[in-house]
Amino acid sequence: MKALVLAGGSGTRLRPFSYSMPKQLIPIANKPVLVHVLQGVRDLGVTEVGVIVGDRGPEIEAVLGDGSRFGLRITYIPQDAPRGLAHTVSIARDFLGNDDFVMYLGDNVLPDGVVGIAEEFTTHRPAAQVVVYKVPDPRSFGVAELGPDGEVLRLVEKPQEPRSDLALIGVYFFTPAIHEAVEAIEPSARGELEITEAIQWLLSSGADVRASRYDGYWKDTGKVEDVLKCNSHFLDGLSRRVDGHVDAGSVLVGQVVVEAGARILRSRVEGPAIIGTGTVVEESHVGPYTSIGRDCLVIDSRLESSIALDEASVTGVHGLRDSLIGRNAFVGTTGRGTDHHCLVVGDHTRVEVAA
Ligand code: G1P
Repeated sequence: MKALVLAGGSGTRLRPFSYSMPKQLIPIANKPVLVHVLQGVRDLGVTEVGVIVGDRGPEIEAVLGDGSRFGLRITYIPQDAPRGLAHTVSIARDFLGNDDFVMYLGDNVLPDGVVGIAEEFTTHRPAAQVVVYKVPDPRSFGVAELGPDGEVLRLVEKPQEPRSDLALIGVYFFTPAIHEAVEAIEPSARGELEITEAIQWLLSSGADVRASRYDGYWKDTGKVEDVLKCNSHFLDGLSRRVDGHVDAGSVLVGQVVVEAGARILRSRVEGPAIIGTGTVVEESHVGPYTSIGRDCLVIDSRLESSIALDEASVTGVHGLRDSLIGRNAFVGTTGRGTDHHCLVVGDHTRVEVAA
């Protein structure tokens, strides 16, 4: 089996981050989302991976390389514009050959893995096997209608009036039967070739299409709130590891990772939390549920349930919570005696101050 990992999407819901970095590289517990995805692929025993990239391809390639670091062989497949999930299958035709494959969306994380579902697929080899998950509002997803014995009756992309609450989530298994289907369908109203429609095409032509429920943790990291929630979930799984320097005036509580080269000075770090290499935390209180990237400065501050990306600085700010701070960003005070806020706020940025 091969894997097709989709990392071409532009991430409009993750602005302003997606202006300067591919959304698939947003860190979760200090590791890009896409690296978590590739580990999920590797857990299936798959080593041949095609990664679909858009105009952010070079940055993704710089991080993943040839894949050998993850025990994988990566082939990059450029997509000129976001033309749909089914379009990625057609441009990956040469890479996929006549092999079965798993298609994995590069911004979806399923840390509990889909090994059991992959085994079901390889045993029965239906033309397509989708993964479904019960969601409160399925209207922004592909939706699966199942019969009494779990058989797939119908699949509809983003229905306004969903007839079920089972959403298709970011993992699909296919035999080469999918290639005829993606060639047969037409672009949808949003101008994309929808994989949901290709799978429905298979179903209508009498092919075996199955659905498996996923009961583990799942998050589409397309929005800031979900990135933060997902980060907290991953931090919950941390084990304590202190490779950096912690001075005598500091206290670490619970599951805290201090990477080599990080320095914690006169501070309290409450787990779960991770402090990246080269970062200095001084006279601050960090955590719980906080990830600080590489080469950051956190000075005289209080920060919890947040993520700071590489090279960010937070100085003199108390009570930061549920925040996502970008690479090289500065969050600080205007200085003693001043009573105004001073902001340099980029496009689509959100700033919320305490009332
Ligand atoms: C895509 C698929 C949709 C699926 C969703 C999962 O939606 O079209 O069927 O449920 O991924 O995240 P999109 O993110 O392109 O709106």
